[in-house]
Amino acid sequence: MKVTVVGAGFVGMTCAQRLAEQEVAENIVLIDVLEGRPQGIALDINQAAAVEGYQALVTGTNDPKDTYGSDLFIMTAGLPRKPGMDRSDLVEVNGKIINAVAAYIQEGSPEARVIVVSNPLDTMVYLMAEKLGFPKGRVVGMAGVLDSARMAFFIAEKNRGGIADTRCMVLGGHGDSMVPVPQFSTVDGVSIQALLPDSEIDEINTRTQHGGAEIVNLLKTGSAFYAPSAAAVAMAKSILRDENRLLPTAAFLDGQYGLKDIYMGVPCVLGKNGVERIVDLELDDAGRQSLHASADAIRADLDTLREKGLM
Ligand code: 2OP
Repeated sequence: MKVTVVGAGFVGMTCAQRLAEQEVAENIVLIDVLEGRPQGIALDINQAAAVEGYQALVTGTNDPKDTYGSDLFIMTAGLPRKPGMDRSDLVEVNGKIINAVAAYIQEGSPEARVIVVSNPLDTMVYLMAEKLGFPKGRVVGMAGVLDSARMAFFIAEKNRGGIADTRCMVLGGHGDSMVPVPQFSTVDGVSIQALLPDSEIDEINTRTQHGGAEIVNLLKTGSAFYAPSAAAVAMAKSILRDENRLLPTAAFLDGQYGLKDIYMGVPCVLGKNGVERIVDLELDDAGRQSLHASADAIRADLDTLREKGLM
């Protein structure tokens, strides 16, 4: 297996580390435009293998040819938000980066599956899929696993533990209009609605929606990377090992949830072909309305991409 991580920022480097430590692939390529950085990180991870005992080898590079023949890409390159910025403020600058990376994925790895992490996520994954022209199921976006992990932590905090048994579902776009779905969020199968008062669930939903910004504001420079890389690698594993896990994924919708021609977070079965199945859940009216409002926010970013001539 060969996996390429694009972007040697904090998310990319922790993805490479997790892929190596968990031996998800024996051949991991870390590529960045900055000279020296991916090479330095690769050396550091490879030297840690002497202590940790993993067999994977990381190659740091600035040359797209080194990525050729990859089975899977995790696309993390792009600028992160600064405090006060919205993910949508990154459309233009990160859209250009997606264009450049799509060109070499298409050229050298025509069979690859691609997980996009760059923001604004739902717009960037749409652009990547558009540029690659691959079957849409092979190009997915990582956000729901991260947002659900945040929600799970906030629930576990209220319950004073039990995070390993806490499974959450956050749908919609990876922005302030994301849609936490408490009725599909459980602790060992028991709905959180049976465990926590409504006021606490409302508080958790709001904190989840702003979970990324909370960390951006604390860090001052850069954004979250431990949970984002954990989420991207969980998706990569489900695809490469054909685990068929049901994970919230930004997938291309063709009528599901009443939406068409858009990438957005929905529950998907992820296996060797990427999206093996989209699960079209019955939502109540409020849930469906929130999902459609989230789609409108994504469409506004897609319009910006088109106005700027990037798509
Ligand atoms: C986050 O939510 C960076 O969008 C990413 O932390």
